Amino acid sequence: MVDVDPTTSVVAASAIVALTTILLLVQRRYHRGASFFSTMMGRIRVVIRSRAENRELRRLIAVLDEGGGEEGGDDASSSGRTSVSSSRRRRRRPVVSGIFIHPVKSMRPVSLAETKFDVHGLLHDRRLMIVRPIPRRTIGEYDDGNDHDDDAPTHRFVTQRQCPRLATIEVTMPIEIMTDGIRDDATGWKRMGRRSGGMGRTSKVLIRLSSSSTGSASSSSSSSSSIALADNDARIYVDVSPSTLIASPLRYRAGLWGDVVDVVDVGDEAASFVSNIVRLDDPAYGDVRVVSILPRNLTTRHVNETYCPHATRVGYLSTLPQGGLTDGFPILIATQASLDELNSRLAKKGKERLPMSRFRPNIVIDNTSRPFDEDEWKAIRIGTGKDAAILHIVKGCPRCKQSCTDQITGERGNEPLETLSDFRSLGKGGADVYFATNAILNGDCYESTIRVGDPVTILTRGDPVWDADTAQPE
Ligand SMILES: *[C@@H]1O[C@H](CO)[C@@H](O)[C@H](O)[C@H]1NC(C)=O
Ligand SMILES: *[C@@H]1O[C@H](CO)[C@@H](O)[C@H](O)[C@H]1NC(C)=O
Ligand SMILES: *[C@@H]1O[C@H](CO)[C@@H](O)[C@H](O)[C@H]1NC(C)=O
Repeated sequence: MVDVDPTTSVVAASAIVALTTILLLVQRRYHRGASFFSTMMGRIRVVIRSRAENRELRRLIAVLDEGGGEEGGDDASSSGRTSVSSSRRRRRRPVVSGIFIHPVKSMRPVSLAETKFDVHGLLHDRRLMIVRPIPRRTIGEYDDGNDHDDDAPTHRFVTQRQCPRLATIEVTMPIEIMTDGIRDDATGWKRMGRRSGGMGRTSKVLIRLSSSSTGSASSSSSSSSSIALADNDARIYVDVSPSTLIASPLRYRAGLWGDVVDVVDVGDEAASFVSNIVRLDDPAYGDVRVVSILPRNLTTRHVNETYCPHATRVGYLSTLPQGGLTDGFPILIATQASLDELNSRLAKKGKERLPMSRFRPNIVIDNTSRPFDEDEWKAIRIGTGKDAAILHIVKGCPRCKQSCTDQITGERGNEPLETLSDFRSLGKGGADVYFATNAILNGDCYESTIRVGDPVTILTRGDPVWDADTAQPE
């Protein structure tokens, strides 16, 4: 219906030629590198496997919930049913007996009755930590002012390994402060009910740090882990409101084991509060800073792919799961049976029993069938029904000197490392001792809730995994 005039034909022909040329060039380019297509194919494979693994887990759960479960063991089959008639079924049923988060890495834990998750793991777990500046390389007399490597860390993490006294610092959950008061919010950050005329109202999210070991305060505190603050306790509030963190210009690249993480400084008051405490361990640590991950997903820290089952991949693009400022994995699980075994060995030597807090787990599970059963777990389910969480047990946790630090006083001894080395030297060359195990949430379980008292079902088992290399003694 339109007259094809000659110019249009020429333009069309040129356009086709140009397009073909571009396509050919693009294709040749990717052919050479082959990276684009292989990356795409790799990603597609991961998505497919992730879906398949998830389907398999769901199928398994459906079978178990039917009451089937081929070889039951102490596992699976009994979960979800309260046996009234079957007292013969006196089978031990694993159950969650404790949930802990550590809002600031290396400081004291907060015990919770229940919790949820976000992209970084358990809500509020290890979102802050202590760092020290890394001395900048200088050329001649002066720093040349140029970062030769933008990815190079500017700071390095500090933990109880270097400063055991960090264990004396008590931390609260983030507390939201509004005009109508302070509210502890165990399950996350929600707005309070609106009041009429509350237009200009602002809110802040604060974490309280407190310690009785500041300054010269003679720590005659007879292991008083009391929740109430003693009068001589020093305390400060750290503003971790998302808006405050976003607005702060003090951003660092913090080295944390093998990763470099984007963090933001939470201010001078927090820095000097913590410095005054860790300085007592080592005067060289007078320059520490307190940092937080950035809100709104601006900090990413992926878990090492080597250890991630496909089912832990997140979202439509099947991206790697993340951790917060933990050592390497988002969740640490310990069992009471393993601690009991350790403690009975300590008792035989006439030594003191140790509390679970030495191992700083997130989730403690009781009533497992035997000590260190967790070595062989692969996938477990916590809770039943829609909001149950599936966790993948990925690798045993090598322990360091931190476990020898009294988590009340900050004093350091030789146990449990000495006794663990009798029977838990399992890594390469037996150089590391293992207690508790690292876990990652299943990719589609980020809406789950876990609660103390939840039944735990061991879905799959397999060979234990230890580190390929010995852990650094940082
Ligand atoms: C962070 O990302 C997760 C999933 O990618 C999303 O559900 C969540 O709302 C994000 N949080 C913020 C504060 O943007
Ligand atoms: C991941 O872990 C493996 C095995 O321990 C290690 O060889 C590799 O270097 C790690 N990758 C990264 C990026 O740290
Ligand atoms: C463990 O099992 C025993 C016996 O079945 C029960 O009495 C106990 O309460 C369980 N422990 C927990 C923490 O639920």
